[in-house]
Amino acid sequence: THKLIIDTDPGIDDAMAIFYAALHPEIEILGMTSVFGNVTTEIAARNAIVLAERAGQTIPVAKGAAKPLVQPPNPVSDYVHGIEGFGDVPAQDTIARPVDEPAHEFICRLINENPGEITLCPIGPLTNIALALRHDPSIAGKVKSVVIMGGGLERGNVTAHAEANIWNDPHSADEVFAAEWEVTMVGLDVTTQVVCQSQDFARIAETNPKLGGFLNDAVQYYLKFYETHVGVQGSQMHDPTAVIAITDPQYFTIENHALEVIVEGDRIGQTIRSTDPSRPKHKVPMGVDIDGVKRRFITMFETGS
Ligand code: BDR
Ligand code: CA
Repeated sequence: THKLIIDTDPGIDDAMAIFYAALHPEIEILGMTSVFGNVTTEIAARNAIVLAERAGQTIPVAKGAAKPLVQPPNPVSDYVHGIEGFGDVPAQDTIARPVDEPAHEFICRLINENPGEITLCPIGPLTNIALALRHDPSIAGKVKSVVIMGGGLERGNVTAHAEANIWNDPHSADEVFAAEWEVTMVGLDVTTQVVCQSQDFARIAETNPKLGGFLNDAVQYYLKFYETHVGVQGSQMHDPTAVIAITDPQYFTIENHALEVIVEGDRIGQTIRSTDPSRPKHKVPMGVDIDGVKRRFITMFETGS
């Protein structure tokens, strides 16, 4: 079983990742933490609870960082995910509330209580993860692995060079890549290749009205964004691809590189190979079995396995 903490800014593709994880019989979501990015951290925390409740799971959600460590915040990406985070799906109330512990402390506590067992899965800006490392550097030696959606060696999305999660807090991302733990950076090199079309979402809506139907409603806004802003017919599957890299690493070809983040100038937010010998090598998927990953995602909503 994979024991996950998902650090997230839901977000339409975050919702896809969280439902995939919730449905997967070999994933246990121990907790979720919110971060600013696609939406504010308040909305992100509420949305994480909305998703957990819809998936019928009781998952503690801790509220995290509202802004980056160093730079002033970029505007939230409401043109990508909608003001409330799920496109045109109206805001929903929740029964549960966020727990009374800040996200970075929550992350450190869960890792210390489950040494060697937790996969940390950040699918938003890396502020909470950097704060957790500062709060208790020993967590680096106690996590099982860290699988991030972010970055990319060959391309950007929010700028020509930078991917949104890294660009939203480049200083935090650089601290996460500098730490002595093994990170898998599931970046745009692979996530932009995995594209689901509107008929794929129609299909999961039919097979799983509760979760697939919700995604199909939310994704309509995202599909319009991809068509008008990116020129792509379909939704790039960023965040779910990172979770699928945890459960199905066989679909990816992995390179090993030390990494760093450019933190100033016109390439700010770009993730690059580092030549600094003190930096650990991380895993960077550069190739992907596109059909394999798409099939894994779509069939999860049919069979729940
Ligand atoms: C990443 O940025 C966000 O908009 C998505 O949710 C994803 O985590 C893709 O660059
Ligand atoms: Ca995200």
